Amino acid sequence: MNKLIAQLRSICGVPHVYTHEDAGADLSAWELDWRKRSRGRSLAVVRPGSTAEVAAVVKACAATPGVSIVPQGGNTGLVVGSVPDDSGTQVVLSMTRMNAVRAIDPANLTITVEAGCVLQNLQAAAEQAGFLFPLSLGAEGSCTIGGNLGTNAGGTQVLRYGNTRELCLGLEVVTAQGEVLNGLTGLRKDNTGYDLRNLMIGSEGTLGIITAATMKLYPLPAAQLTAWAAVPSMQAAVDLLGLAHQTLGPGLTGFEVMNQFALSLVDKHYPQLRVPLWQDTPWCVLLENSDSENEQHARTQFEALLERALEQGCVSDAVVAENLSQAHGLWHIRESITLAQAEEGLNIKHDISIPVSRIPAFVAETDALLQREIPGVRLVDFGHLGDGNLHYNVQAPEGGDNKAFLRDWEDKVNTLVFDQVHKFEGSISAEHGVGELKAHKLPTYKDPTALAMMRAIKQALDPHQLLNPRKVLA
Ligand code: FAD
Ligand code: MLT
Ligand code: ZN
Repeated sequence: MNKLIAQLRSICGVPHVYTHEDAGADLSAWELDWRKRSRGRSLAVVRPGSTAEVAAVVKACAATPGVSIVPQGGNTGLVVGSVPDDSGTQVVLSMTRMNAVRAIDPANLTITVEAGCVLQNLQAAAEQAGFLFPLSLGAEGSCTIGGNLGTNAGGTQVLRYGNTRELCLGLEVVTAQGEVLNGLTGLRKDNTGYDLRNLMIGSEGTLGIITAATMKLYPLPAAQLTAWAAVPSMQAAVDLLGLAHQTLGPGLTGFEVMNQFALSLVDKHYPQLRVPLWQDTPWCVLLENSDSENEQHARTQFEALLERALEQGCVSDAVVAENLSQAHGLWHIRESITLAQAEEGLNIKHDISIPVSRIPAFVAETDALLQREIPGVRLVDFGHLGDGNLHYNVQAPEGGDNKAFLRDWEDKVNTLVFDQVHKFEGSISAEHGVGELKAHKLPTYKDPTALAMMRAIKQALDPHQLLNPRKVLA
């Protein structure tokens, strides 16, 4: 192993390879996952500065028996996909030094960036050039585009612009053999065989290491309006979504739902954020209207929508942000739910998708089943209703011990919720991925033929299990 460490140091430079043997070493930033569900112990953390260095690192690791690689971006993943196990034989390959914007092609509406580019910096580079890069999520200040591609991240603009997959045109990837796949094209049409780009996207570092990507850009909207609405039920939220699609058409760029308990946690942990309307309603909805004409046009459309919704009873009260700063404030409340929940303590997370039409029945039935099993259980239920994606999270009853709750209930609650998801023809991972956390669940809920094909692909591309072993496929 010492030989490998020396090789890694000669490839990346001594300052970019860390081990536990270094004086004062604290590698927890790379070894502990964001939710503090798993703390591993790595052989080394390596931070290459170029694609050639990534390829050389992979070759050196591949030539060392017993060693494997965990690709890592911002380490904000929520399914234990980006951290090593505790064997001390895994090299964390952190991409954060490879963060350059390589090129912008305004006429082609594309931007080419390295994988370690932080999402917020990518958004800013696009905006500086006069364009929108629409991927947006709460972790955008620290997650990387490589991690977004690795997980096929969703976020809050999917109903208009799609997941990360839909935003990507080309990839540069280092394979498990240390070869460079140069697929950095900006083409919108290319039917020359198997779609390797889409195979890599969402593979969570198990098939290749993404080193750069060419992503789509969009025109900046002329105006953006945000509203916060109290709705009397989940069915009312779904009805409001239908009205919003009808009234705003492609202008509808965000539709988020949040239950009262989720908002009460934000109010409890961040009272300065002043959550509106939450006390008297079981659900709130955050809507965004992006307009290509002007603010007046957007406001007229938005007010028409809310009037109709009030008349039809699917909204009981609403506030429209007066300016950008108020709009940011409303989005900040929504994005703070995850952090408020983390403050509240360990919890059981479910990132599920169900056809939108069936969500009200799913929620009513599953809430009742959980309450029957665990009286007083608290549900932190929120998410991207416009995409049929709920974060259906389960927290111990008030005053309960969160650790003990997880120990005693996690498996049973997962089974109950996932069985319900299966019954309602949904997916047990909508946007966060599988990682290690859900890998053992795939055999129960994934189509067996699909799972067999996934195993065959892994075997073909990474026969020696070098890349992120035991993630996705247990
Ligand atoms: P990491 O966590 O470092 O890695 C994630 C996975 O991708 C791992 O399996 C890793 O091995 C792999 N990987 C990383 N880089 C590469 C690479 N270069 N090549 C190949 N594989 C790679 N997710 C959503 O989808 N929607 C949300 O709305 C959302 N909101 C969030 C809010 C908060 C507060 C937090 C903490 C997380 C949120 N997430 C969300 C989850 C997370 O931010 C995303 O999954 C994000 O895409 C991970 O990016 P990362 O750079 O942190 O990747
Ligand atoms: C979100 O939508 O805020 C995220 O996916 C994070 C979470 O599920 O907590
Ligand atoms: Zn989400």
